[in-house]
Amino acid sequence: MKDKIRIAAVGLNNRGYWQTREIADIPGVEVVAVCDIHEDLCDRIAEYLEENYGKRPVSYTDYKKMLAEGGFDAVLCCTTWITHSAIAVDSMRSGFDVAIEVGGFSDVEEAWELVRAAESTGRICMMLENCCYCEDELAVFRMAREGLFGEIVNCTGGYCHDLRDEILYGRTLRHGRLDNFIHRNGEFYPTHQLGPICKLLGINRGNRIMTLTSVSSKARGLKEYLPRTEGLEYLKDVDFKEGDVVDTLMKCANGETIRLTHGCSLPRPYSRMYTVSGTKGAFDEGTFGPAVYFDKATGKFDGSYPDHPWEHFEEYRDKYAHPLWQAYRKEGVKEGHGGVDWLVLNAFIDAVKVGGKPPIDVYDTALWGAVTALSEQSIAMGGATLPVPDFTKGRWISREPVRRSRYCLDEICDECFE
Ligand SMILES: NC(=O)c1ccc[n+]([C@@H]2O[C@H](COP(=O)([O-])OP(=O)(O)OC[C@H]3O[C@@H](n4cnc5c(N)ncnc54)[C@H](O)[C@@H]3O)[C@@H](O)[C@H]2O)c1
Repeated sequence: MKDKIRIAAVGLNNRGYWQTREIADIPGVEVVAVCDIHEDLCDRIAEYLEENYGKRPVSYTDYKKMLAEGGFDAVLCCTTWITHSAIAVDSMRSGFDVAIEVGGFSDVEEAWELVRAAESTGRICMMLENCCYCEDELAVFRMAREGLFGEIVNCTGGYCHDLRDEILYGRTLRHGRLDNFIHRNGEFYPTHQLGPICKLLGINRGNRIMTLTSVSSKARGLKEYLPRTEGLEYLKDVDFKEGDVVDTLMKCANGETIRLTHGCSLPRPYSRMYTVSGTKGAFDEGTFGPAVYFDKATGKFDGSYPDHPWEHFEEYRDKYAHPLWQAYRKEGVKEGHGGVDWLVLNAFIDAVKVGGKPPIDVYDTALWGAVTALSEQSIAMGGATLPVPDFTKGRWISREPVRRSRYCLDEICDECFE
């Protein structure tokens, strides 16, 4: 068990800057190297770290040089989507554990490369899916494990976020989404809700996703918004490929269905559209707040059709609070997406310290990221139903036990909070 972890952070624009600040704040962690192809972004975080921790990290513009020089234990990768897998594979093959930010892969082979690198090197590859640690998602997880929803048959989720400015001003902001929306059409951001859903349904541990089909709407949102922007004349003839709404349907080995929706180019409030439907009840993130419903039917039909009102989730959030959130509330919830950035980074560091078995492992990372590549293929083939690879190569029916910890997402480990 290591008590000091040295981090090298790659990709230092918006997300990388904040994640690097946050990880540096974890007791026992030191950020010793930083890397971005833009030198000024290295300088910005290096100055912050020097000012706050008294030591300036080494800066690099070439991550391969950083990996070759080493001097750290793990890599935090917050680069653009199309660079995650190569940096993660190179990190593991250079002897380092790696955490990659969320986003999907462009090709299923990228996911396989991650699996092969993790298996052959024994290094950790963990996707930093912070939504797995959301308070409501973890309370719903506990309620499901305690049987409140009965047998779960369907989950839905998504990522609807009006990112028209962030996408279109990509060149100015040096932000990576723009070229994806110009050239590709798929479920770009599956993991925010797919992560919690997979953990709820035991995917890769007794269950797996068998097939997927995706359908995309037309792409109008960005084109229509463009005249309202300034200085983006160079985009006026661009024919954006990414449909404004992309729906993806998946079928699991144990019979459940999952529906994901992606939409970042239309005016609508942020939503992850999380719902869980089971034989005894349901959860719905809702438009105006989360709610639950539990079956009250008596089995006697008297000719009336009673209302089935939702109940506010508040009371259940407290009553079924996951022990991690009970502890976190007492310790003081940190900033960063309502506190979940702190939890997911701590989960990674916890696994690096003990030398393995992260709560989101390489099989989860591979599968969740591969959904993007598969959805693109499905859309290109007119919504064809595609087989979803089994990255565990059959072991989903008989996996090694999970490592029980505070941050475990497969089981609730009450003993870790005593
Ligand atoms: N989990 C969350 O809540 C959350 C929130 C925001 C962003 N993200 C994710 O974080 C990642 C980064 O997001 P962002 O908005 O900062 O993206 P961004 O495109 O603005 O920044 C990416 C940075 O990576 C750098 N980069 C790209 N290739 C590189 C390479 N080969 N070597 C070194 N640096 C390289 C770029 O120069 C840029 O500075 C994305 O995967 C995004 O999806 C997650």
